[in-house]
Amino acid sequence: MLILQNIRAVDPGANLDKVCDIVIEGCRIVKIAEAKTQNDSNAEVIDGTGLVAFPGLIDMHCHLREPGLEYKEDIESGTKSARAGGFTGVACMPNTKPVVDNSAIVRAITSRAKEVGSVKVYPIGAISKGLQGQELAEMGDMQEAGIVAVSDDGRPVSSSSLMKKAMMYAAQFNLPVISHCEDLDLVDDGYMNEGYTATVLGLRGNPWASETNMVSRELILAEYLNVPVHIAHVSAKLSVELIREAKARGVQVTCETCPHYFTLTEEAVGNYDTNAKVNPPLRAKEDLEAIIAGLQDGTIDCIATDHAPHHVDEKRVEFAQAANGLVGFETAFGLSYTYLVETGKLTLSQLVEKMSLNPGLILGVGTRLAEGECADITVVDLNQEYTVEVAKFLSKSKNSPYDGWKLKGRVVHTIVDGRI
Ligand code: DOR
Repeated sequence: MLILQNIRAVDPGANLDKVCDIVIEGCRIVKIAEAKTQNDSNAEVIDGTGLVAFPGLIDMHCHLREPGLEYKEDIESGTKSARAGGFTGVACMPNTKPVVDNSAIVRAITSRAKEVGSVKVYPIGAISKGLQGQELAEMGDMQEAGIVAVSDDGRPVSSSSLMKKAMMYAAQFNLPVISHCEDLDLVDDGYMNEGYTATVLGLRGNPWASETNMVSRELILAEYLNVPVHIAHVSAKLSVELIREAKARGVQVTCETCPHYFTLTEEAVGNYDTNAKVNPPLRAKEDLEAIIAGLQDGTIDCIATDHAPHHVDEKRVEFAQAANGLVGFETAFGLSYTYLVETGKLTLSQLVEKMSLNPGLILGVGTRLAEGECADITVVDLNQEYTVEVAKFLSKSKNSPYDGWKLKGRVVHTIVDGRI
């Protein structure tokens, strides 16, 4: 038995924000009681005075790199890093080696996660075989093996007819389709946001239009077919605006952004810092502002990390050659709390919606702070201030642009299935 005593429990999904005692037996919450009323000499008791409990944070978009790319990250190191960041469950993208495009690989991931994982791992299967954009992967088979969504993340599905088939097919299985939106023709080999900064640095630009063009295609397909679609890592102002309008028309669209799109702009690349190289690229100030507005009015449903570990040798090269992506698990909550809640842009409850409730609902994996529910709980100290020390990350990779940043709001316990 585990008792979180005198803790502030915040769960918009259970309409809860009060100081209480949470009693956990085995893997379930058995009681939510008046504060300071629960005790048991056989129980492990955590004094929650000054702490806050959420339903476990869920990252719906990360890269664990296993199988095949374990020199960057593996399920063991990746889930340790996720746990340190307060995530009780993570959904991992299929751009591994081999690609997760069949049930055997899905089973390999789920069984490995049971063996060495310290948080829950929800595999995402590929939309197309080998991420080649030619032929649909076996979605039904992969769903039986445990996938929670399909995506070709890392690459767009360039063929509109294949995406149309993917959306129709996935809808029959109730599998969310997560679209990595990028018109490669418009990307035109660019690798940072097209504009003044790219020109000054002499780096090749990738315009926001490359993202937004495909966002608009996905919205049109979802509306035409009347099926759902989820847009990954939204970075651009017009993408937010188009999604907002589509939602107002009743299109079944959901979307996510990542902490780097509301805390950094293209100027972070300033010193040719390859840790600020990510796809989609960091954008301009007006995009960052639009992302925050989208989070505020509910256009953007989720905050995901896009945790993308890369070996130092893939980052310590010239900018054009460097791999895209940054590690995100261990900074996501602190960045979101500091830059969105401390600044008054979102309420704490809205942040929990974006980092736990909504990703859980979209993937069908969430939990609640309520009696009888699964005891996946994140406990944070909102008053703790700290400095990000990338060298201490539990991830195998250290590609983060946030070293030395001062943040507020620290994860102190991650409870998975009732175990701290
Ligand atoms: O920056 C990125 N890194 N964006 C992606 O879409 C893929 C990811 C990766 O796999 O490294």
